[in-house]
Amino acid sequence: MFYCLPMFTLCLSNIGTAQMQQLIFAKIEGFKGDDCGKINEVPQDMGRLILNLLTNAFYAVNEKKKQRPEGYEPTVSISTKKIGDKVEIRVSDNGNGMPESVKDKIFQPFFTTKPTGQGTGLGLSMSYDIVKAHGGKINMTTKEYEGTEFTISLPV
Ligand SMILES: Nc1ncnc2c1ncn2[C@@H]1O[C@H](COP(=O)(O)OP(=O)(O)O)[C@@H](O)[C@H]1O
Ligand SMILES: [Mg+2]
Repeated sequence: MFYCLPMFTLCLSNIGTAQMQQLIFAKIEGFKGDDCGKINEVPQDMGRLILNLLTNAFYAVNEKKKQRPEGYEPTVSISTKKIGDKVEIRVSDNGNGMPESVKDKIFQPFFTTKPTGQGTGLGLSMSYDIVKAHGGKINMTTKEYEGTEFTISLPV
């Protein structure tokens, strides 16, 4: 049992040097949201889940930053909301989003669009399994060239 807010802290404290460097490049919108009370989840699982989503979000904003679009501010945000007996966690970024051809495959094990050595294609399939194992749902919306948002809904 643990709280949403410490969860965010927990997952940041698990971030390694490479991701810390990425943090510098992205404007973090920070934690906004409700105090979601206790969630019946295993903290390690949840840390891994959020870390997977954040890693992807940072990668996406860095890729877009490399293309140097004018006035682009890499932004990653995480928020929580309590809705009835569920908690909704959103991780969003203003990276390049995904084309149709990628959208449907992202939860498949070993599916990756990243160069060899940069992606295993296991982050989202693992995230999907974690959410399912806890009776939750994971949804993704994306707009090509504009960004991506993952929404996880978990029973409190
Ligand atoms: N935030 C995101 N923005 C754009 N594409 C994403 C994002 N998150 C995931 N993807 C796409 O989904 C694929 C699978 O993600 P994942 O399972 O985490 O594997 P990996 O990160 O190792 O490639 C990525 O290769 C990428 O094409
Ligand atoms: Mg990944």
